[in-house]
Amino acid sequence: MRDAIRFWLGDELITLRDVGPTVTALDWLRETRGRKGTKEGCNEGDCGACTILVVRLSPEDGALQWNAVNACIQFLPMLDGAQVYTVEDLRDPSGALHPVQAAMVEQHGSQCGFCTPGFVMSMVAFRKRVASMDRSPTDAEIDDALAGNLCRCTGYAPIVRAMQQALDAGPDRFDTIEADIAQRLSALMDGLGASLEGAKGRVTTPASSDELAAVMAATPHARIVAGATDVGLWVTKLGRALPHVVFIGQTPDLNRIERTEAGVTLGAAVTWSRAEDALCALQPGMRETIRRIGARPVRNSGTVCGNIANGSPIGDGPPLLIAAGAQLLLRRGDVRRRIPLESFFIDYGVQDRAPSEFVEGVFIPLPEPGTRFAGYKVSKRFDQDISAVMAGFSLRIECGVVNDVRLAFGGMAGTPKRAAAAEAALLGRPWDEAALEKAREALAQDFTPLSDMRASAWYRLEVARNLLTRFHAETTGGTRVSVYTSATEAVDA
Ligand SMILES: Cc1cc2nc3c(=O)[nH]c(=O)nc-3n(C[C@H](O)[C@H](O)[C@H](O)COP(=O)(O)OP(=O)(O)OC[C@H]3O[C@@H](n4cnc5c(N)ncnc54)[C@H](O)[C@@H]3O)c2cc1C
Ligand code: FES
Ligand code: FES
Repeated sequence: MRDAIRFWLGDELITLRDVGPTVTALDWLRETRGRKGTKEGCNEGDCGACTILVVRLSPEDGALQWNAVNACIQFLPMLDGAQVYTVEDLRDPSGALHPVQAAMVEQHGSQCGFCTPGFVMSMVAFRKRVASMDRSPTDAEIDDALAGNLCRCTGYAPIVRAMQQALDAGPDRFDTIEADIAQRLSALMDGLGASLEGAKGRVTTPASSDELAAVMAATPHARIVAGATDVGLWVTKLGRALPHVVFIGQTPDLNRIERTEAGVTLGAAVTWSRAEDALCALQPGMRETIRRIGARPVRNSGTVCGNIANGSPIGDGPPLLIAAGAQLLLRRGDVRRRIPLESFFIDYGVQDRAPSEFVEGVFIPLPEPGTRFAGYKVSKRFDQDISAVMAGFSLRIECGVVNDVRLAFGGMAGTPKRAAAAEAALLGRPWDEAALEKAREALAQDFTPLSDMRASAWYRLEVARNLLTRFHAETTGGTRVSVYTSATEAVDA
């Protein structure tokens, strides 16, 4: 195992031997490297002022992946093996502005300028993503690329115009050095595992799931961190100290997406951004919810399994995945087990996971043909908001009656949970108004939601009932629900 963290910052190879497990990339860039173009706004992944570019080789095809990431909740050791660029790296060596910077100037996309470096970094990442697409992006995709960046003074129209202008502009300074970047990154991939212990704490980056199992067996109290989009806030907002962190974000076998005839398995390190297409190939009805999990920089770091493992009752992933019949893959030493995802959540803050056991992945089965599926996220804002109620519904009708139904909710109890009484009210009955009414009534047996700042108990129950009505309307003549036909033909009906 290496005794150092290594990454490229611009054209400099950084090697760190004594690094605190929870020092943030933002603090290090600003305080140690003087890169003060990267700003601190919220320090919790919400505003995008701290956005940097993290470039890696895709585990799928080895192509360069240019990801916008929130430096304020990215721990420094997580940059191991990456090429990192900040706003200071954008200008061409000739002194010319990057096409995105030039477009922001020409379209008057900046006033006070505090948010501008963050916007520009998200825009550069989006330009790179669009370059790998075989079509022009939609307006919604442009909005989505900018949804993680907040601006208080300019207004978004000039910034969107700058994005559109930059998409039509010529190459940037990175296009000519992509082969060099790929070569640098391949060299760094050689020997991924690292273990560092110093005055500031202990950092482990396991090179495989086997190594992770061994580390957790030896040090069960170590904290696993995948994307740090939850754990980051424990440090920046709650001031928690984590003396030993095991970073799994770059562990190769945990980064796999495996597609078989039975379904899809996502390794524990697969981010929401990478999982999106694989999940939506199975259930197109997941796309709208996934696009509303944080914003792009959060989804570029945050993992599907981290969303499950944190056990939150208001995570958006579990209701979707429970409705899809997902199974959780757990591992402790050499012992592996597979459980229905819903049974992982025992009570508020209590999950079915033993000390030293970890989540190795999640399996989502191929749906039966004819399965109707929908995900509904209800929150005060469209983008970047926590759900008041989250629902995932799946239903199949055979011979005129409901013969399979999974109704899963978040925000309705101390855990993500299936609505057992409402499901029972539907099973074996025609999917008609009478059955719907019974299921709506039964939701009151299933849930006694809480009132909090996001919603009252009454509102939550009413919304849950109304989402069921919406699902009924959409499956009996409406438009949005997805109907599964086959892996290549799944469609939004
Ligand atoms: C600005 C912002 C917006 C957000 N918006 C949303 C949203 O809209 N919807 C939503 O659901 N969430 C949201 N989140 C929360 C977060 O992004 C998700 O929960 C994310 O999926 C967590 O994944 P992670 O890899 O970052 O987890 P981490 O922070 O790395 O870990 C989370 C927890 O899981 C544990 N853990 C991680 N991996 C494993 C493993 N393999 N085995 C055992 N334990 C493990 C960690 O120890 C920790 O307890 C948001 C977060 C931020 C900062
Ligand atoms: S400082 Fe606001 S997202 Fe990082
Ligand atoms: S230009 Fe002032 S916050 Fe955006």
